[in-house]
Amino acid sequence: MAGKEEVFVGSIDQGTTSSRFLIFNTAGEPVAVHQEEFTQIYPNPGWHEHDPEEIVRSVENCIEGALKIFEKDGHSKDSIKAIGITNQRETTVVWDTTTGEALHNAIVWTDTRTAGIARELKAQKGSDKTMNICGEPISSYPSATKLLWLLKNVEKVRKVYEAGNLAFGTIDTWLTYKLNGGPVMNVFVSDPTNASRTMFMDIRKLQYSDEMLEFLSYEFDLKKVHMPKIVRSADKEVYGKLSTGPLKGFPIMGCLGDQSAALVGQKGFEAGSAKNTYGTGCFLLYNTGDKPIISTHGLLTTVAFDFDGKPVYALEGSIAVAGSGVKFLMNNLGFSQASHKITELAESVPDNGGLVFVTAFSGLFAPYWIDDAHGTMLVLTVGITHHTERGHIARATLEAVCFQTKAILDAMQKDSGHELKELKVDGGMSNSALCMQTQADLVGIPIVRPKMRETTALGAAIAAGFASGVWKSFDELREVNTVGETVFEAKMEKRDSEKMFKRWGRAVQMSKGWLAEE
Ligand code: G3P
Repeated sequence: MAGKEEVFVGSIDQGTTSSRFLIFNTAGEPVAVHQEEFTQIYPNPGWHEHDPEEIVRSVENCIEGALKIFEKDGHSKDSIKAIGITNQRETTVVWDTTTGEALHNAIVWTDTRTAGIARELKAQKGSDKTMNICGEPISSYPSATKLLWLLKNVEKVRKVYEAGNLAFGTIDTWLTYKLNGGPVMNVFVSDPTNASRTMFMDIRKLQYSDEMLEFLSYEFDLKKVHMPKIVRSADKEVYGKLSTGPLKGFPIMGCLGDQSAALVGQKGFEAGSAKNTYGTGCFLLYNTGDKPIISTHGLLTTVAFDFDGKPVYALEGSIAVAGSGVKFLMNNLGFSQASHKITELAESVPDNGGLVFVTAFSGLFAPYWIDDAHGTMLVLTVGITHHTERGHIARATLEAVCFQTKAILDAMQKDSGHELKELKVDGGMSNSALCMQTQADLVGIPIVRPKMRETTALGAAIAAGFASGVWKSFDELREVNTVGETVFEAKMEKRDSEKMFKRWGRAVQMSKGWLAEE
């Protein structure tokens, strides 16, 4: 007797602090997972780098590790129909097209060394037009200033550029290029969700914008830099095949930047749906349908996904520090090494004791866009007294993300003209019930947390699943991950949450003043 063959989709999730490979069944459940952390390199205050080769190795190890579990559980690798990729966005890699070798460590999205370049660009004629073309304000966050910094400061990079062999890519491009065997196959592509984070892409045409390339050229000719072809997020052909390892020959069929992937994984397919992912940073994406909305309140316009040549857009509120704030407490201040202990510590006090912690390690992103003038680390704490204990610091660290989310939601309502009815959440910090309850109290709408929180990886699997025919429509995914969700309803008196938020606003203003004086 032959039952219906069980099929699976693999998902590479290349994040800021770790890589993972997950294998999903058609019910959207992960059946095998392997994760590996890799080195975080901080050469100077405010600088943050990754070794591009180590990233590729970590992904290859994860594929091997998850596959072992999968096969040990009695599955055959031939039942894996396609592989999707999701990745940390903006992080910039440059390499030599002739050798396929990276010319410098990747500059990570959190890195603030390019604040000076950003300021110079802002002072240039035409800087008021860029937001409308590419959807992003000029800051150290998008890839553009990182590429300029590499061209300006690294001789090796400049020489390869002058020889006409310099390739630029975000992590999606680097991974697909390397996993396909580098210069041999020369798969050199990026999907619009990633390309929309560079400042090089016209957000409406989904192609590189001559105007942006010219504006951002600085003292270089960016048209001389090889940039990846922008292709759909789900496609049978363009992403190539794995060239080595136990899944050699298996096709890559989908690719989404991690925040877009989380929106897809939360099934935010309809205009008006939104999700907030509390990862290393925290990113709120609000689906605005087939038209990009250019924000006038400090948000970004980004591509949510492009499965069939009809792109869907999102307004995005980006917060630079979320889980990395918790890591800061653990690694730099000697707090417990287990993140759930940080929540326990935060729960050990009834409130923040008057402490406000502005975690502006990378300046402050949305909706404030306060640049850290010298790329130095800035944290601002307001309200430390003799009464302050570690619990208050832990609590204020969690609250900082919730306050910024509240500010982003307010901005989103103004930009979109719609009030959100509920907010779906995921990511590491969403495990903290205290954090999610605080979030509900501050924003005053239900916070909905799914049971299975691997939504980013699921999103990439969905993209690959669509291209390979494992799923054919959004409708087929309706039942995926609906059982066992937790809903956090606002409990706090509105006047108390407003008071808390007001204090936060004052602390932000103080950090602004501080940075201006730098
Ligand atoms: O824009 C940066 C973002 O893609 C990184 O996501 O999950 O590492 O916080 P995450």
